[in-house]
Amino acid sequence: MGLMKKYVKKDFPVWKVRRFIEPGPIVLVSSAWKGETNIMTMGWHMIMEFQPSLIGCYIWTQNHSFEMIRKSKECVINVPTVDIASTVVSIGNSSGRDIDKFEAFHLTPLPAQKVSAPLIQECYANFECKLIDSSLINKYSLFIFEVVKAHVATSPKFPQTIHYRGDGLFMVSGPTVSKYRKKFKPENL
Ligand SMILES: Cc1cc2nc3c(=O)[nH]c(=O)nc-3n(C[C@H](O)[C@H](O)[C@H](O)COP(=O)(O)O)c2cc1C
Repeated sequence: MGLMKKYVKKDFPVWKVRRFIEPGPIVLVSSAWKGETNIMTMGWHMIMEFQPSLIGCYIWTQNHSFEMIRKSKECVINVPTVDIASTVVSIGNSSGRDIDKFEAFHLTPLPAQKVSAPLIQECYANFECKLIDSSLINKYSLFIFEVVKAHVATSPKFPQTIHYRGDGLFMVSGPTVSKYRKKFKPENL
């Protein structure tokens, strides 16, 4: 092991720490309710279990998507790549209350297999989700979904996903490093 860097620190506002621990990709959450479809941009999500496949998502009460997803109890989590980053921001800057985002942003809705919410064809991956626990919605706006069906592009193997750093900045996923893989306990792989 080489000489490890010892970082010099300064105080940092606690409300900004999310910038360092939001490495997950920005996703687009599509929904459907009473003949209407919608899409929102989401950065605040976390894996909670892998079997069953559970994802916790923070959805702000003021988003049009909030009621659509709470009532339909379903959504699709779509993973976009850097080529549509501009559209991802536009989706986050507008509301389905005012516009049809599929139409406005020229995205293609495809039927899902297990939920009524549409898949977004222009995204690298689409995860069909069912709301399996609503007990934290009122307190934390936290929706806990089970992924019941997943569609993933055959290539590239490592897509250029975008990761929000706050303050209007995205990190684009970069090089993949395999040299630490042999150190992993098999159950952590
Ligand atoms: C990069 C980015 C990340 C966002 N992350 C979230 C999030 O995690 N949860 C959330 O409720 N809104 C998030 N938003 C805001 C929603 O995308 C935004 O309020 C959207 O316009 C809601 O659309 P709707 O009213 O059609 O549901 C994010 C926006 C951007 C641009």
